[in-house]
Amino acid sequence: MGDPLLTKAALPVTEFGTDELRQLIEDMFDTMHVAGGVGLAAPQIGISLQLVIFGVDKSERYPDAEQVPQTILLNPRITPLGNDEALAWEGCLSVPGLRGEVPRPARVRYQGFDPEGWPIDRTVEGFHARVVQHEFDHLIGRLYPSRMRDFTRFGFTDILFPELERKT
Ligand code: NI
Repeated sequence: MGDPLLTKAALPVTEFGTDELRQLIEDMFDTMHVAGGVGLAAPQIGISLQLVIFGVDKSERYPDAEQVPQTILLNPRITPLGNDEALAWEGCLSVPGLRGEVPRPARVRYQGFDPEGWPIDRTVEGFHARVVQHEFDHLIGRLYPSRMRDFTRFGFTDILFPELERKT
């Protein structure tokens, strides 16, 4: 947080299926797994591209999280469905050590492409909807604190959730 790249709109991916792209995605998964995260956007590792990865089987950082399929999503668009809003705690590898309670549309449709250029089109809710919206925000220069409305629900992870391992 504070790096100007994280406040900028990322550029669309124009070439699919390249070795360079595959290498970048591999680096992103390595970074995400080392940090114990459930998602990562290319701008978080200094690359201004519309590319996010996410997915969770079981997370130490989010022990209550529902499973989300491992996804590599390029040039995404998100459309909220309905007016229902969900409120839940989020953290971010670019905002280490903190958590905040963030309101977001409960149900969304997202569209984009996989690394080979094949279309992805899903309608999701729950933790899946939250993760994709959080990662998408990185591509438009937003970090989750800027989505918060109640800053009494913002603080250090180890104070708010002492039972979680002190990672980030
Ligand atoms: Ni994040």
